[in-house]
Amino acid sequence: MDLNLDKKVVFIAGSSRGLGYATAAQLAREKAIVIINGRDKEKLDIAAENLTNLTEVKIYPFYGDVTDSEFPEKLLEFIKNKFAKLDILITNAGGPPPGGFESITDNAWQNAFELSFLSHVRLIRTLLPLLRLSKTANVLTITSYSVKQPIPNLILSNSIRAATIGLTKTLALELGHEGIRFNSVLPGWTKTERVNTLMENRAKLNNSSIEEEIIKQSHESPLRRMAEPAEFADIATFLVSPRASYLTGTMLSIDGGMVKGIF
Ligand SMILES: NC(=O)c1ccc[n+]([C@@H]2O[C@H](COP(=O)([O-])OP(=O)(O)OC[C@H]3O[C@@H](n4cnc5c(N)ncnc54)[C@H](OP(=O)(O)O)[C@@H]3O)[C@@H](O)[C@H]2O)c1
Repeated sequence: MDLNLDKKVVFIAGSSRGLGYATAAQLAREKAIVIINGRDKEKLDIAAENLTNLTEVKIYPFYGDVTDSEFPEKLLEFIKNKFAKLDILITNAGGPPPGGFESITDNAWQNAFELSFLSHVRLIRTLLPLLRLSKTANVLTITSYSVKQPIPNLILSNSIRAATIGLTKTLALELGHEGIRFNSVLPGWTKTERVNTLMENRAKLNNSSIEEEIIKQSHESPLRRMAEPAEFADIATFLVSPRASYLTGTMLSIDGGMVKGIF
């Protein structure tokens, strides 16, 4: 199936590695014009170079921290001057730190709000004028299956990402009449650096090894394994493509059946 992504301009926040990186690779293979992002400039430039070599499509790095309130305006200027339009916006960042209720300070709650909620709000609000120039405009927020089934020891993610889901659904309702689609993908356990760090944290807590923790976690999913980032990327790529044109307001779990509820 041709996904009709040829020459579509895409910005993916938080994409120098992990889920964002894998999605950038898949979109570039579909001949989209992809801008990737991360806070570490050196790593971002290397990621762009690697992706360019891998896909034989030029990848554009745009360095910056999505929690910086001035970042979206700088990005808007860059995209406007270079491409004059934006077809697809994927909002994403690293996840908030683990921890239980009593260990989380006000400061940590504020930081998580900035990272996992306000960064999505600011990027969408600032880039909307550019999205409005596209006939196939859509926004995909990357959240977590934790909005459907809270994950132990991740109270920040469990709580704050629910607001991002509320945001995504509300925008789908408010802006659908303009033809702009808003969806969210809710990843389950996928083998990325973030998951490695979380497993390391659990291994320390449980006096076990990372490998043991990965096996334990995998056994909670019906498929008994974690996902590869490319498995996430394939679905995200379809969702943002014009072939998913009647899909909006959808919160799609890509979790190997991890969420046990029916809906
Ligand atoms: N992987 C999973 O199993 C899983 C499951 C559920 C939910 N999620 C969520 O999905 C999202 C992506 O996960 P991942 O596993 O791909 O994470 P990851 O491996 O930690 O990658 C995060 C990416 O975002 C960038 N980043 C982090 N903070 C940023 C910021 N403030 N501004 C700009 N870029 C930033 C990182 O680069 P720099 O560090 O250089 O900035 C990196 O490129 C996270 O929110 C995560 O919590 C993941």
